[in-house]
Amino acid sequence: MLATPDQHKAPIYEALCSYRDEGAALLHMPGHRGGAGFEAAELAAVGSLDFTEVPGLDDLHSPDGPIAEALELLARAFGAGHSYFLVNGASSGIHALLLTVSQQGRPVLVPRYAHRSFWSGLVMSGARPVYYPGRIVPDLGIVVGLDLEALEQRLEENPQATAVFATSPTFFGTCSDLRAVARVAGRYGKMVMVDEAHGAHFRFHPALPEPALQQGCAAAVQGLHKTLPVLTQGAALHVAAGAFPGTRLQRAYSAVTTTSPSYPLLASMDLARRLMVLRGEALLEEALRRAQWCRERLRRLPGVSCPQEELAQVTGVTGVDPLKVVIAVEGLEIDGLQVARLLRERWGVQVEMAQPGFVLAMFSLCHQPEDWRRLVAGMEEISRQYAGGARRRRRPLQALPPEGEVVMTPREAFFADRVAVPWQEAAGAIAAEAIAPYPPGIPCILPGERVSREALEYVREAARMGWRIQGATDASLRTLEVIR
Ligand SMILES: Cc1ncc(COP(=O)(O)O)c(C=O)c1O
Repeated sequence: MLATPDQHKAPIYEALCSYRDEGAALLHMPGHRGGAGFEAAELAAVGSLDFTEVPGLDDLHSPDGPIAEALELLARAFGAGHSYFLVNGASSGIHALLLTVSQQGRPVLVPRYAHRSFWSGLVMSGARPVYYPGRIVPDLGIVVGLDLEALEQRLEENPQATAVFATSPTFFGTCSDLRAVARVAGRYGKMVMVDEAHGAHFRFHPALPEPALQQGCAAAVQGLHKTLPVLTQGAALHVAAGAFPGTRLQRAYSAVTTTSPSYPLLASMDLARRLMVLRGEALLEEALRRAQWCRERLRRLPGVSCPQEELAQVTGVTGVDPLKVVIAVEGLEIDGLQVARLLRERWGVQVEMAQPGFVLAMFSLCHQPEDWRRLVAGMEEISRQYAGGARRRRRPLQALPPEGEVVMTPREAFFADRVAVPWQEAAGAIAAEAIAPYPPGIPCILPGERVSREALEYVREAARMGWRIQGATDASLRTLEVIR
């Protein structure tokens, strides 16, 4: 009776197989490029290595065997005093750090453009966020780094703050001056912890931006799966020697980590660390050469530009990851969303993100010359067909609407009674849900913040533009949950 016809389907598996069989150039995460970054034998072995904590295989929560040894190697490879394997993505490292440094009701400094995982970490920890702004490039509408002066002012105003968090690189590969942040925070006696989710490869090539720990920050969370050949969810938390005395970090880490970690996932991180130490620089060298070739070709195309140099010159930006290729399409008759659709349909190229003004292609050391060529060939053809037309230019949607006043902590808001009100009438109320267009997943409405009319309009506009909206209880955006 249970075996109705629809029970013969396995929708997730089938969708994955058909996407794989399309054979698209995968210019998006994860960094292993559809498995190509694994040696065939390693990949075949992954399923057969799905064991549990039997004798000899150690225990992630109190390692003293092969996991302890792998952690030691990981920490050395990344120049850390100690490292932790994260099996629930970079998000869980952010949660662990917030649980470690927070005290109920006391402020922590967080960039307002932080990933939404910060919000759940704030709920768990009970800290009061004091947000500081980022620098936005208005032509593209993206945040490229932090505003150091604003951060310093927040430090001055909040002597009770327990720590400073920063995000670098951004989703677009732009990096902030973390050395200066660590110096400024240090003057106020605060440690700096960095969401370095997109920067796990930086350590392995001298031409890439300098990693957070090497710039004097106390901790860095890296989404290894984003840029290295690691299975999705594989990530790491690295901490500087002596930065976290006592057991609190270990307890926080254990609290946010499953008791059944996936061994294939752990093994993929172990192998990626080995690969990066042994061959990472040479592989990245190849990838950087291809990135340069790609940018040179794209720059020649009418209607298209690669604003990497412009982004590198924004105040406070100290470097840009060449493997994140932002292609501005303001000179084309069609917008970035249409460009992304054409790339997928006609050239079998799937990019990571599209906005009206640009598309973002993410490459890793696992991409092959063919992947780069397909992107360039697609863009050449698109430029030939669509350059020079008179598209009505609209100012791009900026990375964030204006900040709302923080009235309650995210934790207070999470547990408070809530009520759904019509979307247009929510202005002035206190938000009860975190709403983030994805990617890059920066919440523009946050629980505990007073909702502004601009934020309400912003979310609807983002939805109209075809962005996925995460976190809205009412996906139709007719109502918003606010604190009763
Ligand atoms: C800047 C940033 N931080 C953190 C995360 C969370 O990473 P994960 O999905 O590995 O949990 C993301 C995810 O895209 C991100 O872009």
